Amino acid sequence: MSKEFKRYLITSALPYANGPVHIGHLAGVYIPSDIYTRYLRLRGRDVISVCGSDEHGVPITIKAKKEGITPQQVVDRYHAIIKDSFEKLGISFDIYSRTSSPVHAETASAFFRKLYDEGKFVEQTTEQFYDEEAKSFLADRYITGTCPKCGADGAYGDQCEVCGSTLSPDELVNPRSTLSGATPVKRETKHWYLPLDQYEQMLREWILEGHKEWKSNVYGQCKSWLDGGLLPRAVSRDLEWGIPVPVEGAEGKVLYVWFDAPIGYISATKELTPDWEKYWKSEDTKLVHFIGKDNIVFHCIVFPSMLKAHGGYILPENVPSNEFLNLEGNKISTSKNWAVWLHEYLVDFPGKEDVLRYALCATAPETKDNDFTWKDYQARNNNELVAVLGNFVNRALVLTQKYYDGVVPTCGELTDYDRDTIAELSSIKASLESNIENYRFREALKDAMNFARIGNKYLADSEPWKLIKTDAERVKTILNIALQITANIAIAIEPFMPFSAAKILAMLECEKFGWERLGAMDLLAAGHRIGEPSLLFEKIEDDVIQKQLDRLTEIAKQNAAAEVKAEPQKAECTFDEFQKMDIRVSTILEAEKLPKTKKLLKLTIDTGIDKRTIVSGIAEHFSPEELVGKQVLVLVNLAPRDFKGITSQGMILMAEDATGALRLLQPNEKTNNGAMVG
Ligand code: 2FM
Ligand code: ZN
Repeated sequence: MSKEFKRYLITSALPYANGPVHIGHLAGVYIPSDIYTRYLRLRGRDVISVCGSDEHGVPITIKAKKEGITPQQVVDRYHAIIKDSFEKLGISFDIYSRTSSPVHAETASAFFRKLYDEGKFVEQTTEQFYDEEAKSFLADRYITGTCPKCGADGAYGDQCEVCGSTLSPDELVNPRSTLSGATPVKRETKHWYLPLDQYEQMLREWILEGHKEWKSNVYGQCKSWLDGGLLPRAVSRDLEWGIPVPVEGAEGKVLYVWFDAPIGYISATKELTPDWEKYWKSEDTKLVHFIGKDNIVFHCIVFPSMLKAHGGYILPENVPSNEFLNLEGNKISTSKNWAVWLHEYLVDFPGKEDVLRYALCATAPETKDNDFTWKDYQARNNNELVAVLGNFVNRALVLTQKYYDGVVPTCGELTDYDRDTIAELSSIKASLESNIENYRFREALKDAMNFARIGNKYLADSEPWKLIKTDAERVKTILNIALQITANIAIAIEPFMPFSAAKILAMLECEKFGWERLGAMDLLAAGHRIGEPSLLFEKIEDDVIQKQLDRLTEIAKQNAAAEVKAEPQKAECTFDEFQKMDIRVSTILEAEKLPKTKKLLKLTIDTGIDKRTIVSGIAEHFSPEELVGKQVLVLVNLAPRDFKGITSQGMILMAEDATGALRLLQPNEKTNNGAMVG
């Protein structure tokens, strides 16, 4: 039997405040955690859900430097965007705090200080890269150089973004500091380490023996970390941005972001309630961390070791972690802008918050990486939300208006078919609950949608619109049942689609029913008057989806262009050799396609010296019409060449860009034909 808990503490990974939140974050962490929390609230449990912005760490300072603003300004901007967009999507944290808050600084410092005072850290002096000009130690991200694996310039000290290799700064060829451009030197520095090796046994027993029920991806990662043997981990860094290490002789040192961030869960709880210890220090509390798979080691190995070292805190009961969501077949990337950003979605799709919640829950990468595509999003809206859920609710309400003036009719004698339908409906509750409680949200969503599927089938099979002419009494029962199903839908979908649940309740003119009533067939009393029906969901047309796809195509093009490496420089040529080339400003007078060729255009050119013919292989890039009248640069003394029996006397100069498109080279103002280039 699983243990009964008196209360729940739900945490969701604190998003870095160096960019807005995207669909990958939502599907991986925040939508699952919100479904779970809303469900527990509906069941009347004592539950709090805490989150906040993770506002320290090197990427934030790099962003600030790039934009010429302070790290505080960076986090202020993104904290506001993230907080606002979560709220608008209905992510119902009890508190959304931030790690630059004073309460957090105090809490994290006190946490460190206790471990320090009790001798829980080991101090180690190591050599780190240092910038003598900027007088600063360099985080790996602050060092760039040539990638030893692929030769790309601009690789970072921890990773080459061109070939994806993980690197250490020592491996970079020609390393440079991004602060000053100087070549970094090695310098000794002292840091505090948490000796994870001392917690290995505790972790083995707690996870490998005690939590075999954890998702296999989480359990598997923990096992491989533990089997590989744990090493002490530095919990401080030589940086300016962060929480100062609260001990003497630690000037210029701050807490490592992964030391302070999880303590952010505790500080947020403190800010929320004076009763915070009840949630963090009682074995009666079920602590659940919702995270993405890149956070597993920190939440299952490092933070629990910190909590144990401190003492007095409970450990998480589960750490449901999802895999990654891709976008249109490619990895979501903040730096490449390859993402659907929540704050932009909310502007582009007003009133469609639940559609996103639905689509992301339905495609959540629960057991393996998954792909979000706009076509799938559209299909889920049109074929599932509109055609199944919206359609059923609308038919039930519209028919009630039409036949009974909006008054719930009485339920007469049930047929066997009615009884079978009701039995099927009442069996959903247990499955839905078990799926949510075991973090299988995709399955749970299918359960909730089953109310609408069964309802749709019930109406289609019973055809009240035909029966009304022959058996009006029977129609009353059918619509009574359809309305009870509608009321059940309002309960079942609330954790997943809270806006739509509220809309159904408003149309039914009802207050919330309470989760325990799910499956009941007497939610609406006969004689109750319902409100005016309106559409729950609207069809999403192709052009709306195309606009999103076009945006991504444009981003892909820009990324491809940015990634292109220029061809290496050709062998040296002398000035005299260059002088041999006679390049003139010319005007294209006529242009026509050469018959029976795909690529060739025959051009008549005024070179200022004469009028001549040039055959150019650019027919796939330019139409004849767009060329006529254009000034171009022409190499006029190129030896003549024959194409399809026509002699070409010269060559038009062009540049080919990263996407393969050709660009004409033109003087920046109108120039007389024959003007020499050189
Ligand atoms: O991976 C991330 O986005 C981190 N900012 C998560 C931090 S979770 C917690 F420990 F604060
Ligand atoms: Zn590389």
